[in-house]
Amino acid sequence: MRVMVTGGAGYIGAHTSRLLVERGDYVLVVDDLVTGSRDRIPELPLVSVNIANGSAGQLESLMREHRIDSVIHFAGKKQVAESVEKPAWYYEQNVGSVAQLLLAMEAAHVSNLVFSSSAAVYGEASGAIAEDAPTYPINPYGATKLVGEQLVAASANAWPLRAASLRYFNVGGAGSPELGDTQALNLIPICFEQIAANKAPLIFGDDYDTLDGTCVRDYVHVSDVAEAHLAVLDALPKEPGNTVLNIGTGIGTSVREMVDSILHVSGSALEPLVLERRSGDPAAVVGGVESIRELTGWSARYTVSDIVKSAWESRQYFERVSAQI
Ligand SMILES: NC(=O)c1ccc[n+]([C@@H]2O[C@H](COP(=O)([O-])OP(=O)(O)OC[C@H]3O[C@@H](n4cnc5c(N)ncnc54)[C@H](O)[C@@H]3O)[C@@H](O)[C@H]2O)c1
Repeated sequence: MRVMVTGGAGYIGAHTSRLLVERGDYVLVVDDLVTGSRDRIPELPLVSVNIANGSAGQLESLMREHRIDSVIHFAGKKQVAESVEKPAWYYEQNVGSVAQLLLAMEAAHVSNLVFSSSAAVYGEASGAIAEDAPTYPINPYGATKLVGEQLVAASANAWPLRAASLRYFNVGGAGSPELGDTQALNLIPICFEQIAANKAPLIFGDDYDTLDGTCVRDYVHVSDVAEAHLAVLDALPKEPGNTVLNIGTGIGTSVREMVDSILHVSGSALEPLVLERRSGDPAAVVGGVESIRELTGWSARYTVSDIVKSAWESRQYFERVSAQI
């Protein structure tokens, strides 16, 4: 395959690009490098462009020039708090980029697309969530992902687009240290930051209706997520349409279990500090993952322990690199 990977210098995009190349596919990365890094994919052709505004013509030319047949669209902003502060900018970036990409794909007759959506589209839904669960995003970030899915689905009604929108649950870990996530936006890196500052990791609420009282989430290793993209690309249904698929493990892990694992792996003797619940945190959120298994045979292979260990190794790698600078 000849694949354009937008956001291919980012965390999940670089893992996926590497797997594509390893199996012999051609990869062209398109990335503005605002949160991504060239160092993750030094060997791959990269065009640096912000695709959110007015990029359709350039993307179409690149698709023709590089004889692209498929697109995996990772490029996007992912900070919930930032999306609450700058909603219009989030819509411009996350929805605008989908629109520009679809204009280019239609013009260049590129008809295979895998789109990075998010479990944030489910909002405060609790329990094991299948793809037909109601979608009620509770922040602009989640809303931009839902609108992105709708735009993909509407395009697949209008022209022969074969697409899948993948709703990731909590992605973590690193396939190799230099590919790790350098943004501290979720539980694992935030706990590492606390530990590095010799501060107790925080647990928000331990009176939920769960086994140990703390919230339960579905953590999926980034290497599993990357493999899921290849499996979905290969299994896109022949007919035009947008197939929505959850990407998770189907297994719940409590915040306390996760924090204990993080403390253990980092060798810290700190004790977690339990605070009041945060508003908007559902008790338990686990992805229903039957649909992707049925379509592709894919299921997650890595454990929570693999996720925490590899995230820790990656953090240490980046600390060594920044110490050398
Ligand atoms: N990491 C997660 O836990 C998670 C969960 C759900 C969904 N997602 C989605 O998956 C995608 C990839 O996430 P990630 O964790 O790899 O994030 P990331 O920030 O590491 O990667 C995003 C990449 O896209 C690039 N980019 C962003 N906006 C761009 C634009 N307008 N034009 C060109 N390039 C642009 C960035 O430079 C970066 O390389 C995002 O769309 C994100 O919303 C991530």
